[in-house]
Amino acid sequence: MSAPCAAVVLAAGLGTRMKSDLPKVMHKVCNVPMLGHVLAMLDDLGVVRRVVVLGPGMDAAAKLAEAYDATVAEQTERLGTAHAALAAKDALADFAGDVLVAFGDTPLVRAETVARAIELRRSALDPAVVVLGFEEDEPGAYGRLILDDAGNLVRIVEAKDATPEELDVTLCNSGVMLIDGAVAWRLLSAIGNDNAKGEYYLTDVVALARAEGRACAVVEGGAEEFLGVNSRADLALVEAIAQDRLRAEALARGVTMTDPHTVYFSADTQLGRDVTIEPFVTFGPGVVIGDNVTIKGFCHFEDARVAAGAILGPYARLRPGADVAEDAHIGNFVEIKKATVERGAKVNHLTYIGDARVGAGANVGAGTITCNYDGFNKSHTDIGAGAFIGSNTSLVAPVKVGDGATVGAGSVVTHDVPADALAVTRAQQKTLNGWAARFREKMRALKAKKEGC
Ligand code: UD1
Ligand code: MG
Repeated sequence: MSAPCAAVVLAAGLGTRMKSDLPKVMHKVCNVPMLGHVLAMLDDLGVVRRVVVLGPGMDAAAKLAEAYDATVAEQTERLGTAHAALAAKDALADFAGDVLVAFGDTPLVRAETVARAIELRRSALDPAVVVLGFEEDEPGAYGRLILDDAGNLVRIVEAKDATPEELDVTLCNSGVMLIDGAVAWRLLSAIGNDNAKGEYYLTDVVALARAEGRACAVVEGGAEEFLGVNSRADLALVEAIAQDRLRAEALARGVTMTDPHTVYFSADTQLGRDVTIEPFVTFGPGVVIGDNVTIKGFCHFEDARVAAGAILGPYARLRPGADVAEDAHIGNFVEIKKATVERGAKVNHLTYIGDARVGAGANVGAGTITCNYDGFNKSHTDIGAGAFIGSNTSLVAPVKVGDGATVGAGSVVTHDVPADALAVTRAQQKTLNGWAARFREKMRALKAKKEGC
């Protein structure tokens, strides 16, 4: 897809209905701020320039915009969507192409739909404005798209300014529109604020273009694509739709999911072929899963890599920096943080591996803990290839267990263990033959004497 147009993303709104200290566009959907979704969509579309309009003090949003190679323009007073779009004028002073306006709080818009608008803009009709619209049975506060008998877009009317007949119109304004660059800034500057809200409405650009004899047109998309987030309830709804999209994409890519609705992805989750995911699994940001990996139920992953053929869970937790190699097994109630588990190693039960390496083919027994933190510093544990760590072992870092070494169950290992050695630190077992029988006899006799008197 190529499009010689610049995009202006309006994101300065206060989002008061979110009841949040965070600017609305920084609230996350699938672990990415809404503004990031819009900027990623524009990337897919191939727009050549991006300007994000922000309010004063929206530093995190500005940083995010810069990460997507967008310029930031400031709208100091929130006087409406046309006023916001005009804030981008200077940043695009040297740009001659078309201007695409999008909203930072509408994160589900698809690049394909916008591409259709670009196509229509390039058609023989030569519309000055192409508006993305959608049908909605209960259009509520959305602006209504008013068409003439021939189906051409005549104007957009905001709900607050609409007549009862206009309110019956079900074709709504999504907010996304593509404007002919030759007229865009002149028309936007001509917009006034004589309306119910006393705001400068971007939507008035359509009537102004028509008054100059230019055509305007509508491209329709699905209503869910244009859901704008104004409250936490909207955010939850958008999250649910975005999750469904990611599930559908995973299934289409060759992932098996027993019950997709219980699996939660991040926008950046990467899954190989023939991955199997059992119910109730959560993928936080930054997770990469290789081919043929089996993920059993109730796992939680974040910023972790898993190579081909590994088996994880049920109830495995991979925290940031977990790196699980080919064919390794991570079992139930095992937590891995900032650690490499090499090829074919097994960490199957009730274990914490943090700031560590588990060598290829090593076997880490149930209840093993790498004691990586002394209250001040984190230290490293190194478990060699083929080592065997007995159950209920504490490895007090910094410490090294050599290749092929064995650590006896119940040990607290504070010194390095050489390759192929055995280390056991538990107390010697004492065995007294017949002691238990004698003890029982004595206690029974005592009890009988007590009950007799
Ligand atoms: C707008 C449209 C409406 C459409 C709806 C779709 C106008 C006048 N109305 O209404 O036709 O149906 O979106 O969701 O355009 N913003 C700024 N600065 C401002 C005002 C807004 O940056 O001064 C930004 C907001 O951050 C937001 C976007 O513009 O991302 C839309 O603003 P909002 O106030 O939500 O517009 P709506 O009333 O929903
Ligand atoms: Mg809105």
